[in-house]
Amino acid sequence: MSIRFLLIAAPILAICAAHPHRLKDVHQRSSRDLETMILNNTVELDKQGGTFRLDWDLVYDQDATNPQVVLEMRVATRGWFSLRFTSADLSLGDYFYGAYDADRPSNSFFLDKHCELNNGRGCETADGPKDDLRNDFQLISIVFGQDYTLMRIARLADTGHLQDVAITPSPMMIGWFWSAGIWESGQLTPIDKMGFQDVVLIPE
Ligand SMILES: *[C@@H]1O[C@H](CO)[C@@H](O)[C@H](O)[C@H]1NC(C)=O
Repeated sequence: MSIRFLLIAAPILAICAAHPHRLKDVHQRSSRDLETMILNNTVELDKQGGTFRLDWDLVYDQDATNPQVVLEMRVATRGWFSLRFTSADLSLGDYFYGAYDADRPSNSFFLDKHCELNNGRGCETADGPKDDLRNDFQLISIVFGQDYTLMRIARLADTGHLQDVAITPSPMMIGWFWSAGIWESGQLTPIDKMGFQDVVLIPE
């Protein structure tokens, strides 16, 4: 639903020239406004370069034991980027893949992907992870500047889907990836920068 919304909304958005722009998700139904709420947690995933900041917070409005995790990525690119949650046994990578192309909105995407890992490694290529059967991410908003993209998304900590990694109250290995471009000859452009960091998303 959100992909379709993005593709329909994007051409309208592109007509407006000013930057940055914010794209609203009209499907939002939570009692809290996920778009405007302040996210009280932050980590710079790219410790040296400062190219990938993650802000997040938890919303327990709908379920006291399974919060919605609201995540906002600020990435120093206008190309595609990705965030990976890693299972505790390091056998499954659960990815969010996002891109917003202001010049060609049909190039944009917003995807839930997965990859079988071997001790935390695998699929470290642009086209490596496979699409999930179900997209469990909700797109909240996109802001794009001259040299960065800011994307806010949400999903349940435990989506109940086999191709997703449940976010639990313990340190989790988070992977981050970005590229300067989006598409080239029908393939995603190669990864320009990536890394891994252990992050506690839900306090223990
Ligand atoms: C973030 O902190 C503010 C100020 O303490 C608080 O009002 C707000 O509820 C917090 N946000 C969340 C999602 O808990």
